[in-house]
Amino acid sequence: MDKNKLSIQSYKGTRDFYPQDMSYRNWYFSTVRHVVESYGYEEYHSPLLESYDIYAAKSGDEVANEQLYLFKDKGGRKVAIRPEMTPSVARMVAARLESLTLPLRWYSIANFLRYEKPQKGRLREHWQVNVDILGSEEIEADLEIILVITSIMRAFHADDAMFRIKIGNRKFFNDVLTDILKVKKEQVGVISKAVDKKTKLSKEKYHEWLKDIGLTGKTIEQLEEIFSLSFAEITRMMGIDSEGAQELYKLFLLLQKIGLDTYCEFDFSIIRGFDYYTGTVFEVYDTSVENRRSLFGGGRYDNLVGMFKDITISGIGFGLGDVTFQQFLELHNLIPVDIIKQKKVLIARFLDISFEHCFTLSEELRKANIANTIYLSPDHKLGKQIRFAEKKGFSVLLILGEDELKKGKVTIKHLDSRTQIQVERGLCIEKIKELL
Ligand code: HAM
Repeated sequence: MDKNKLSIQSYKGTRDFYPQDMSYRNWYFSTVRHVVESYGYEEYHSPLLESYDIYAAKSGDEVANEQLYLFKDKGGRKVAIRPEMTPSVARMVAARLESLTLPLRWYSIANFLRYEKPQKGRLREHWQVNVDILGSEEIEADLEIILVITSIMRAFHADDAMFRIKIGNRKFFNDVLTDILKVKKEQVGVISKAVDKKTKLSKEKYHEWLKDIGLTGKTIEQLEEIFSLSFAEITRMMGIDSEGAQELYKLFLLLQKIGLDTYCEFDFSIIRGFDYYTGTVFEVYDTSVENRRSLFGGGRYDNLVGMFKDITISGIGFGLGDVTFQQFLELHNLIPVDIIKQKKVLIARFLDISFEHCFTLSEELRKANIANTIYLSPDHKLGKQIRFAEKKGFSVLLILGEDELKKGKVTIKHLDSRTQIQVERGLCIEKIKELL
């Protein structure tokens, strides 16, 4: 490597998106966009930079302290690059509360930065589709969010053997801990943090963490047993009427009624890392063991808008990450081959034909919505221009030489089928449309 040259690597944990990657990404985003808009969700967006305070309050230690890209701006403000969208959407809702008609169905597609150790399924910059309902406490809102997830999966032709929606409930988790395990209320938060990290830690480390919190060996054993029990078995052990249990019960009943229960399962260990979740929490997993991290993550948050205004507006939604989702689509062969190849037209150039002839043809095609490009070097031989067109994946090469101009015709070289025809200039657009 030449030591005088700068590195060609993008910043650690980020990706460059070359045109081919953008073809994939645009296809992926437009497929999701189409689904969420079909449910009436409206798109919003927020700035890349936010005040540190909006993460400090309720995002939880991991994101707010360990993973935040944080700096002081020239005015001395503590500024963060957004690591997620939910606090921003809560801020936006709080800012226009008087003029917004609730409930809101909003979605966004944006990039986020988290200072993480880059590894499979985890990068420093990733993109998320965020879909949220704000201003409804109805369990039907929880149901709709799950419904949107299954619709997105179906739009990519994923079947129920390929993914699982694992659903838990924060209130239920807290009730089980205090009612069955007799854990002190103030210990619940830290225990949930340990449980959230359970699958990422060795058994020893996880147990050590629980012991440090103050759990006895017996309580740790009991907690372990609860993970293996069904929802009905856990509720039978409870001595209280748990609101979280009621919510889970109603949600699963509705899911069953509309036939979505085949995709879903109750999972006591789904906690979610953010402190702001208060009710339903869920994660969507690829069933393939090669893609272990969640595809979607989300849940209900009752108090986020309350950080900005003296009001309680409940929200529920999810973030769908692009990194694990691409792995999912690749593993299950769900990316169509033709999204990469754009059908394009190239207009050849010749030294004895002036540029304006090609320009006029190009403009006519563009008006007819046929994307086209004019070759830049008239001194290149036709063979070289054809090779260029093939390499670049053009489907059609148009030849407007001396002979064609004299006859009022255009030669259309269809590169995909390696055939060639000469047509009247007036019929050119129609013929190209047939070929593309
Ligand atoms: P989250 O679980 O942190 O939730 O992120 C949602 C999804 O984004 C994850 O399931 C994962 O696919 C992806 N993701 C997160 N971090 C990374 C990373 N470092 N690299 C690659 N992919 C990543 C939230 O962000 C919530 N704010 C979502 C939400 C919306 N909850 C309610 N509404």
